[in-house]
Amino acid sequence: MNQHIAEARRILAANDRGGYTVPTDRLYPFQWNWDSAFVAMGFALYDVERAYRELERLAEGQWADGMIPHIVFHQPSDTYFPGPAVWRTPNPVPTSGITQPPVFAIALRKLHEAGGDRARSLALYEAALRWHRWWYRARDPDGTGLVALLHPWESGSDNSPAWDVALARVPTTTATPVARKDTGHVSADMRPRDADYHRFIHLVDTYADCGWNPIRQWQKAPFKVADIQTTAILLKAGEDLEVLARRFDRPAEADEIAALNDRTRRAILAQWRPQLSRFVSRDLVSGADVEAATQAGFMPLLSLDLDRAIVEAIVAEMKVWSDGLKVAFPTTKPGTSAWEPKRYWRGPAWAIIDWLLIDGLMRNRQPAAAAALRRSAIAAIEAEGFAEYFDPVTGEGCGGLGFSWTAAAYMVLAEAESA
Ligand code: SER
Repeated sequence: MNQHIAEARRILAANDRGGYTVPTDRLYPFQWNWDSAFVAMGFALYDVERAYRELERLAEGQWADGMIPHIVFHQPSDTYFPGPAVWRTPNPVPTSGITQPPVFAIALRKLHEAGGDRARSLALYEAALRWHRWWYRARDPDGTGLVALLHPWESGSDNSPAWDVALARVPTTTATPVARKDTGHVSADMRPRDADYHRFIHLVDTYADCGWNPIRQWQKAPFKVADIQTTAILLKAGEDLEVLARRFDRPAEADEIAALNDRTRRAILAQWRPQLSRFVSRDLVSGADVEAATQAGFMPLLSLDLDRAIVEAIVAEMKVWSDGLKVAFPTTKPGTSAWEPKRYWRGPAWAIIDWLLIDGLMRNRQPAAAAALRRSAIAAIEAEGFAEYFDPVTGEGCGGLGFSWTAAAYMVLAEAESA
């Protein structure tokens, strides 16, 4: 085992809080949804039992309506804002009131195929199925095939330029005082701005006032974006869920999932914009395309077998974005007015985004582009350590350090590299 893999395993062990893994100490002291799914896939390489625990502990936070929330507050901590007292959710286990990208079923299939246990997989499959039904019921009530986010935090790409237009409509007034803790842990110029935080909390207050009822929230939401990245992840997870349903001899459920997948596949394809060489999200308040140049526009690689002309256009565009950078893949197109190479989701390279894009490039028969991206992520981590993300220009490791999903991504990418 190389020294970096040993270090990655040490990070996951150090961030273990009892069957679940915090993303990093202090900055994120609870269990985060998509972080845990990536972490579970890292564990699956050497400890399948622990990988199951990760998903099981996340599923403990599942709501009666099927939503799996973006944070599960298993134990108290005063190093993070907003904590459970701000969210005011009705769930018996304290959680946030919003969700996050559904990587869960992608991880579950990996665990199951890594020599998993049928009974444990089946219980998690049922949790995943309830969550996917929730996505379509609560976040696509009109049956468009694209699922909408009601809060930028649901994307995981909190302050992405993709939200700038939609978020500008959200007032900066809050009933809850905004008492940020994040900027006490990492430099403020690597984090969202104060105005963003005021809008984030305005949305939390608005939905808490709706009693976290999804129908009321849908009516009241001042922010509603059908996100192409989340939808692409949901489709890949839906494909994996369908495979599991057939394996568990649940044909009716498999057909139900397959029908949802088909509709979503068609809806994503309709979001291709040849003039941009990207797919776009849709702002459901204005009805307009979200044209901001972010990594999300390439994420359909992950879950569609695209026509050759589309793949070639994407790969050419991705090359333009990466040109001259020390670390790929930038989360905003370099040189655009929104591009900030150190500020969280406004430019930096993230190992888990690379991981998803690499899987998508492989699926669409682009092994050279995938290998280049894989080597870029591996080199960045080996040079700087397991940082939350990387400045693509300088290569500097930024944000939180000793970061769980970067450790998981490294193990998965290094394994693919050696294969
Ligand atoms: N990523 C958010 C934060 O920084 C929450 O999901 O706090």
